[in-house]
Amino acid sequence: MLKLRIEDKNQEIEKELRVCMEEKRGILRDILKGESKYQDSLGWFHTQEWACERQVAALKKLASKIREEADVFVLVGVGGSNNAARSVIKALQTDQKTEILYAGNTLSPYALNQMLQKLEGKSVYVDCIAKNFETLEPGASFRVLRKFLYKKYGEEAGKRIIATGSKGSSLERICEQHGYTFLEFPENVGGRFSAITSVGLLPMAVAGIDIQKLVKGAADMEKQLLLDESNGNIAWQYACIRNMYYKKGYSLELLTGFEPQFRWFYKWWVQLFGESEGKENKGIFPVAAEFCEELHAVGQYIQDGAPLMFETFLDVQEQNASLFAEKDQVEDFFDYLNGKDFWEMNKASFHATVKAHREKLPCLILEVERMDEYHFGQLFYFFMFSCYVSARILGVNPFDQPGVEAYKKWMFEALGK
Ligand code: PA5
Repeated sequence: MLKLRIEDKNQEIEKELRVCMEEKRGILRDILKGESKYQDSLGWFHTQEWACERQVAALKKLASKIREEADVFVLVGVGGSNNAARSVIKALQTDQKTEILYAGNTLSPYALNQMLQKLEGKSVYVDCIAKNFETLEPGASFRVLRKFLYKKYGEEAGKRIIATGSKGSSLERICEQHGYTFLEFPENVGGRFSAITSVGLLPMAVAGIDIQKLVKGAADMEKQLLLDESNGNIAWQYACIRNMYYKKGYSLELLTGFEPQFRWFYKWWVQLFGESEGKENKGIFPVAAEFCEELHAVGQYIQDGAPLMFETFLDVQEQNASLFAEKDQVEDFFDYLNGKDFWEMNKASFHATVKAHREKLPCLILEVERMDEYHFGQLFYFFMFSCYVSARILGVNPFDQPGVEAYKKWMFEALGK
């Protein structure tokens, strides 16, 4: 299970947190009871609704057929339509039986041409994931990929196309007309909350990820959080404390960790919190930095710059690899490393960073027992639930994104839609 620790030199912080939790408890109670005004967006709240045994089995069956036949699987989608799957695949895919490529998240012809080049000579499948199928980026990429597939496979191309969209959408009609496989994008789940649905799970399964374990992790976290109205509820603690820090003037949250496997997970997290909370001239700006690398870059700012941010560390507990920096014939003045494992060095770097940073800014540590499917499932559910609670404390609607819609409007106008 996940654990949350607070590293803050303010001795009163735990007391302040308890006061905040007491003041806001009504919000948690309403959420746990089920808020009718958000019912249309809460399809992710009970993982069973869109990831029950039957649904997971069907996704696994489709994925294993694709895995048998495809060298490459192109996930076409942007924002919530690809971030969750990509974060797990990039972290945990161990075989390259089917390589996963990404499109629909850029309009750069250079990047798209590079992606197309990688398809040459390969057996290719495509999944276009688009909830309303109006978004330009996936729509334009899907065109290019269809053209590629029809040129290569003729009418057989249809068998290699999967589309995940809303029921009754133009994407479903296209699937019916052209014989593509259609998967339902749950109407009551927004993109950034769709990790534990067909949206996130099919691409993960195609990459050989054990989605059953991932769903189990999310479901166990759901049980833990939804049954606990007390101050021991870690999502409740996290949601309250981030709002407290925001009120104290910390307007940025920096998510970080010492495992590069989290590189793409950070992007998922940034989108989840950025799109859910940044509204009505409010919200903590979510940023991420990968340590150790960024310690030698933004580390300077974090330590000595304007006190804008608090920091949340993801800290993996169980050692998953080992490598020793052994002495060789070169006198390199690194002998203090003799007999030391990189795991130990990485941990030393983590502890040193927390010690240094906590002098300047509040630090939160989220302990993750192991880097595996089960714990990714836990992290997804933990952060989605926390984000919902946190946005409610902040006083914004967690589930809309009016700002994104505004940008789309101007872009459509520029392109003469
Ligand atoms: O989380 C969200 O709702 C958004 O980020 C969407 O996922 C993103 O805009 C893509 O939308 P669509 O799936 O409709 O193309």
